[in-house]
Amino acid sequence: MVTGAPEAFASVFGKAPQASASAPGRVNLLGEHTDYNDGFVLPVAIAQRTRVAMRRNGRADFRLYAAQLGEQVSFTLEAPPAQHFASYVYGCLLVARDEGAVIPPLDIHVSSDVPMGVGLSSSAALEVGTLRCLRQLLALPMDDVRIAQLAQRAEIDYAGVRCGILDQMASSLADTQRALLLDTRSLERRFVDLPAGTAILVIDSGVPRSLAESGYNQRRAECEEAARLLGVASLRDVGATAAVESLPEPLRRRARHVLTENARVLKAAACSSAREFGALMNASHASLRDDYEVSTPGLDRLVALLQARPEVFGARLTGAGFGGACVALCQAHALRAVGEAVLLGYAQSGGQGKVLVPGE
Ligand code: GLA
Repeated sequence: MVTGAPEAFASVFGKAPQASASAPGRVNLLGEHTDYNDGFVLPVAIAQRTRVAMRRNGRADFRLYAAQLGEQVSFTLEAPPAQHFASYVYGCLLVARDEGAVIPPLDIHVSSDVPMGVGLSSSAALEVGTLRCLRQLLALPMDDVRIAQLAQRAEIDYAGVRCGILDQMASSLADTQRALLLDTRSLERRFVDLPAGTAILVIDSGVPRSLAESGYNQRRAECEEAARLLGVASLRDVGATAAVESLPEPLRRRARHVLTENARVLKAAACSSAREFGALMNASHASLRDDYEVSTPGLDRLVALLQARPEVFGARLTGAGFGGACVALCQAHALRAVGEAVLLGYAQSGGQGKVLVPGE
């Protein structure tokens, strides 16, 4: 594929890039809506990546070309671009400048095969890819954890989503073969093998989703209110599940999801049985649907179809919810067949799904 290669950059800007880098999307296996509660998450990187190439352009403004959109925008650091996709790159440039980097006007080429708007962190891949490229071009002293932290800051300050650090840490540090067990408070982490003979299947429900406009920020505020009422800094600090019973609804159910989800992540990371791991994923979906209320009828139908297959150990919605994709832990040899059968069943109920992982 030529996209993101020097040829693609040169065909837009007329010269070869001086730096290039890439970063993957991610799928979260367990630990949903736990990161902004200082909890635990368990993502894997996916094969799809965002590629970023840069060159000093000697002009007064920045020029940014997005290959997937076929769109070019220009902006300066003083005047933010109006286009949403450009605000991620702009945000990264500003947070790097705040770190002390002196950033000259650049030509920037972005291309990506990370599916957008389905919960696979296309925005984190763009942010981490941009910061990696900037690190290379300007020899900036930032390690991969710092890159994830700056990428999260760019997302919060310039894209308007009060996200946790799951996506950016996963894009910066995860691997496609093993899951990354991450403590989002201390950022301590280790890789965890998937149960033997299993592989990951991700299917888009076709139900569109919009993070900033959805209830994401509202859920986060509910968790903060629950923690305040319980007298703890964050829900991570609540010792026993029984403690949340005193909370008013819906805070009781929101907090219960966070506590039980943290426990599921730690259990899954310690287990080697595919059945046990899968059962934890199924329980996570039920909790996201009933306690956290971020599922949709389409996601529920897709998850039920996946869970009904004998080759599937467990399935759940993945990412923030409110639409987007589902993830299943499957017998590795049955991946394609399960994908096809489930899409057929989903179509019969009026859904329009698509297998995203494994990619084409
Ligand atoms: C989005 C956010 C993450 C995380 C997930 C839900 O992907 O960006 O920080 O909160 O939702 O687990």
